[in-house]
Amino acid sequence: MYFDRSNGFPKDFLWGSASAAYQIEGAWNEDGKGPSNWDQFVRIPGKTFKATTGDKAVDHYHRYKEDVALMAEMGLKTYRFSISWPRIIPDGNGEINEKGLQFYDDLINELVKYGIVPMVTVYHWDMPQALEEQYHGWESRRIVDDFVRYAKVLFERYSDRVKHWIIMNEQNVFTGLGWNAGMHPPGKVDDQKMFYQVNHHAFMAHAKSVIALKEICPDAKVGSSFAYTPSYAFDRKPENAMAKMDYDDLNNFYWMDMYAYGRYPRAAAAYLKSKDLTPVMEDGDEDILRKAAGLIDFMGVNYYQSCVVEHNPIDGVGTTHEMNTTGKKGTAKVQGVPGLYKNPANEFLPTTDWDWTIDPMGLRMCCRQITSRYDLPIVISENGLGAFDKFEDGEIHDPYRIDYLKHHIEELKKACDDGCRVLAYCTWSYTDLLSWLNGYQKRYGFVYVDREEDENSGTLNRYKKDSYYWYKHVIETNGEEL
Ligand code: NOJ
Repeated sequence: MYFDRSNGFPKDFLWGSASAAYQIEGAWNEDGKGPSNWDQFVRIPGKTFKATTGDKAVDHYHRYKEDVALMAEMGLKTYRFSISWPRIIPDGNGEINEKGLQFYDDLINELVKYGIVPMVTVYHWDMPQALEEQYHGWESRRIVDDFVRYAKVLFERYSDRVKHWIIMNEQNVFTGLGWNAGMHPPGKVDDQKMFYQVNHHAFMAHAKSVIALKEICPDAKVGSSFAYTPSYAFDRKPENAMAKMDYDDLNNFYWMDMYAYGRYPRAAAAYLKSKDLTPVMEDGDEDILRKAAGLIDFMGVNYYQSCVVEHNPIDGVGTTHEMNTTGKKGTAKVQGVPGLYKNPANEFLPTTDWDWTIDPMGLRMCCRQITSRYDLPIVISENGLGAFDKFEDGEIHDPYRIDYLKHHIEELKKACDDGCRVLAYCTWSYTDLLSWLNGYQKRYGFVYVDREEDENSGTLNRYKKDSYYWYKHVIETNGEEL
């Protein structure tokens, strides 16, 4: 039924928008919620722009009805949001917090009331801090059982109304920034061995949750969302084409192959072995990973940018990441893996204020690659433009955001015409929200939230941007008029 179309977008295409608990909810210590790893991390001096926290964020916890009413007025078909683990199980593995469960019950019911399909992310990076203290969180195998218990609580409570589930959000990003770049909790730098071990634990948590969900709710649709950065070889030199293959195996297929096939790309596994980085596995893990792979219904894709790959002759292990938190163009640094590849800028493409390459065709390429490699349906779970917006007499003119989304949707439509089975497209984000490291200055929403770029909060009142009205029309015409 999803693919009943002659051309362009399917008839029941899910036009959506997305958010994450830590970035919108606020109410960080209300109604029994426990502290998360992010509540702790943002309090370390120098970690975030102007020491911003998500303590209040955009106060969605108290204003969810107003936010959902705006979604309904826009005609949104699906809303993707995440559940905060420490709101449900404050210390990660102890008592269940009924008030936390009730909040998401209310939110889900409000969405259902307006006919908006809830799409739930189980893990969007906020882990109970107690688990960090008990056993270093994702570094310990113990997290797998605690995660699956938490996921089951959600499935049992909500799967009567929630039929679309995303288990992990951007596992590649939270592990990469957490154990390589030191920019997300727990702030480790170049801990390659642990990076792969942590990923194995997250793969097991994903796999066991997928299996549990299908037992509890066989008609649920499930997958995980991957931050997909497709790549171009720097030029036609064979070593650069080879470097692109290394990049894709280690940065893209490493995660997607595991979700879709339950195994690593062979070349990536061989590379890990050669560097003594292979994660420790338990007996039976491979079977579980393969079983879950056979059960997933879609590949979730968060798409923001593409990259260029060039051979990097320096030998060794390690990555160089640096993120532009200033909003000044030209301050992002080249990333890469010494000995394999580096990622120079693409002079053919424009960039955002945060130096993210703007490449709409890259989105079509993601869909095409997933279709040929996995032949799975696709959920575009995030795509959007972070920009400085100007509030002028109650109006926000954001033609740059409309332009960005329009070109991406055009390419997505071509991907549908190419035969890719795309189920949903969620913009990032619905309201403006906290950018993990960039405070509130980097805005992504259709709905402007009146607040300062740091903690000096404004009124938090909501205002529709021009892009709000534009997307409403896109939905009304099922993507025919952009
Ligand atoms: C992907 C993440 O899932 C989301 O939390 C983040 O804010 C956006 N990228 C933009 O950086």
